Amino acid sequence: MQARSLLSLLLLASCLLSHVAALPVLNAVSRTSDYQRPRFASPDIPLHDVRLQSAGGDVEQVHLMAWTPDSVTVVFARDLAGTGSGSIPLSETVHYGESMSDLNMHANASGKTYTTINIFNSYLWEPPMGAPTLDKADVAAVMNTAWWSKPWMYSYYNFSVDDVHDKTIYPPYDNPLAYYASPLIYTATMTGLKPKTQYYYRIGSFMGNFTTLPVAGDNSKPLRIGLWADVGQTNVSALNMEYMNEHVNPDVVMLAGDLSYADTYAPRWDTWGRLMQPLMSTHLNLICNGNHEVASGPEQNMAYSSRYPAPHRESGSPTFEYFSYETGLAHIVALGSYTVYNQSSLQYRWLENDLRSFNRSKTPWLILFWHTPTYTSNFGQGGATLLREWTEDLLYKYGVDIVLYGHIHEYERTAPVYKNQTNPCGPVYLTLGDAGNREGPTLPWLDPQPSWSLFREASFGVGSLELHNSTTASFSWHRVACEDTNATHCKTPGDNSAQAYEPSDSATFVRDTAACPNRAMPS
Ligand SMILES: *[C@@H]1O[C@H](CO)[C@@H](O)[C@H](O)[C@H]1NC(C)=O
Ligand SMILES: *[C@@H]1O[C@H](CO)[C@@H](O)[C@H](O)[C@H]1NC(C)=O
Ligand SMILES: *[C@@H]1O[C@H](CO)[C@@H](O)[C@H](O)[C@H]1NC(C)=O
Ligand SMILES: *[C@@H]1O[C@H](CO)[C@@H](O)[C@H](O)[C@H]1NC(C)=O
Ligand SMILES: *[C@@H]1O[C@H](CO)[C@@H](O)[C@H](O)[C@H]1NC(C)=O
Ligand SMILES: *[C@@H]1O[C@H](CO)[C@@H](O)[C@H](O)[C@H]1NC(C)=O
Ligand SMILES: *[C@@H]1O[C@H](CO)[C@@H](O)[C@H](O)[C@H]1NC(C)=O
Ligand SMILES: *[C@@H]1O[C@H](CO)[C@@H](O)[C@H](O)[C@H]1NC(C)=O
Ligand SMILES: *[C@@H]1O[C@H](CO)[C@@H](O)[C@H](O)[C@H]1NC(C)=O
Ligand SMILES: [Fe+2]
Repeated sequence: MQARSLLSLLLLASCLLSHVAALPVLNAVSRTSDYQRPRFASPDIPLHDVRLQSAGGDVEQVHLMAWTPDSVTVVFARDLAGTGSGSIPLSETVHYGESMSDLNMHANASGKTYTTINIFNSYLWEPPMGAPTLDKADVAAVMNTAWWSKPWMYSYYNFSVDDVHDKTIYPPYDNPLAYYASPLIYTATMTGLKPKTQYYYRIGSFMGNFTTLPVAGDNSKPLRIGLWADVGQTNVSALNMEYMNEHVNPDVVMLAGDLSYADTYAPRWDTWGRLMQPLMSTHLNLICNGNHEVASGPEQNMAYSSRYPAPHRESGSPTFEYFSYETGLAHIVALGSYTVYNQSSLQYRWLENDLRSFNRSKTPWLILFWHTPTYTSNFGQGGATLLREWTEDLLYKYGVDIVLYGHIHEYERTAPVYKNQTNPCGPVYLTLGDAGNREGPTLPWLDPQPSWSLFREASFGVGSLELHNSTTASFSWHRVACEDTNATHCKTPGDNSAQAYEPSDSATFVRDTAACPNRAMPS
């Protein structure tokens, strides 16, 4: 799809408005930002980049998952292939404690690996911009089995560079060169943690620290939540990660799906894990899955569920695909956009139970996240129509305050909305599918902009949500990179990207239980 010239019209309409709007939600003015990132996708960081290298058997890809009020799960990897002989360490010890010099607690980590078959897509050798991940010759070398297979065998492919066309190439299952064996991936749960306390931890030679979250109901200080989705592994992804880590520096990070964009070229799960470590080994994360975890070829949650476990049993859920978590004044619910969600599904049943049974006085802010937008003013994005239809009444009944999702590669904030109409008692929807992946912006916008769409911009950034007390939260979205052919050094007139760090959009959300009794549900 080509960008339409309607953008320039919208630009005219919006250029006179001030660029930061603290919005009383009901009389807000709809705005389409006058900045749009270039049409091009950004390239994945090349495999030889120093940020993506294997630690050669040492602990790497360290990520922290928010787990329960008094525990945190750490996931890490050791890439032991080619590091020698001897027994394989199936367990590791995670040492942790409140003092760096006395890590007096420990957790046992158990490791395992998984296997997938790499599938080759043309983005690997012909990215729209920048360096390719693989050369056509690399693909031909895997696919050409003629040197060891026999013409009558299923595995026989006399493949040459010329056969590497612009389409997906599926190695047959009996081509051993196409197998991907993951590094050992370990998980351990650090238990017995006090709230709001800094902990140090050591795994092998890796040293880290993090701060635990407040318990549910604790409102002694504002809780800051980082929001992002559709991350990928380009230079822009790295800028967003850095911005989240250093400038948002939230208490907890919510990621609404589409993590690595490995898309069945499995080594890209490891490179993503390495690239994200600075943020994810220092901040607690809550993650739900997106289509790139599930529906990209045979991904089918295999890498995702092996690497990003969720505290689902702790919230009565039978699967990592949906769960809930509480901290401070927030009750947070993750849903699976690609898990059956109709009204007779287990997911729906679980959601209804979860919403019916949490203590709204303790955690008044009800925040949901999933991957696919049910409200977006992006043209042609009807994929979540049934998700909206089947769940909207339930969400409204329980007065959901805020919904975060991604998938559409742009930023958009809605007014509170219900049944396609601005309604002060409906949820506010935030689309944040703009954290840097290689696929480019999703355009065009619907024209005219629906009245419930308050701000939209097709560029890159991350969000920050701060819950001040049971009635007031402030939210801002920052454009982080303008991204041109040169993601680390870009600047366009009026841009407030990496060089400026100004919020591009901000809003105050107010919970008014008198005007909206549903926001007191369950009572
Ligand atoms: C970890 O494993 C060791 C040895 O197998 C055992 O003694 C210890 O109790 C375990 N610790 C935990 C926290 O499970
Ligand atoms: C592979 O194909 C080329 C022509 O495309 C042919 O010349 C060659 O003999 C084939 N090699 C084998 C081992 O089948
Ligand atoms: C905690 O970890 C961060 C990130 O690695 C590091 O910059 C900081 O120095 C550490 N803090 C202490 C007190 O060691
Ligand atoms: C819900 O979805 C499942 C799986 O697609 C289907 O078998 C079932 O009939 C659906 N139920 C309703 C009420 O739509
Ligand atoms: C719900 O939370 C409030 C505030 O923390 C508390 O006073 C009340 O006892 C809780 N209700 C239940 C049923 O636990
Ligand atoms: C929602 O409202 C818009 C106008 O704001 C309209 O174009 C669209 O058809 C409506 N969709 C549904 C599902 O009602
Ligand atoms: C909640 O926080 C906001 C923003 O800090 C403040 O203006 C408001 O007075 C607070 N409300 C209550 C009830 O404390
Ligand atoms: C990405 O960032 C690296 C390191 O800063 C730089 O060397 C490289 O040129 C950048 N690539 C692109 C396409 O901007
Ligand atoms: C990329 O940024 C560098 C450093 O500012 C600059 O020298 C170079 O010309 C830029 N390249 C492009 C294509 O904009
Ligand atoms: Fe997506």
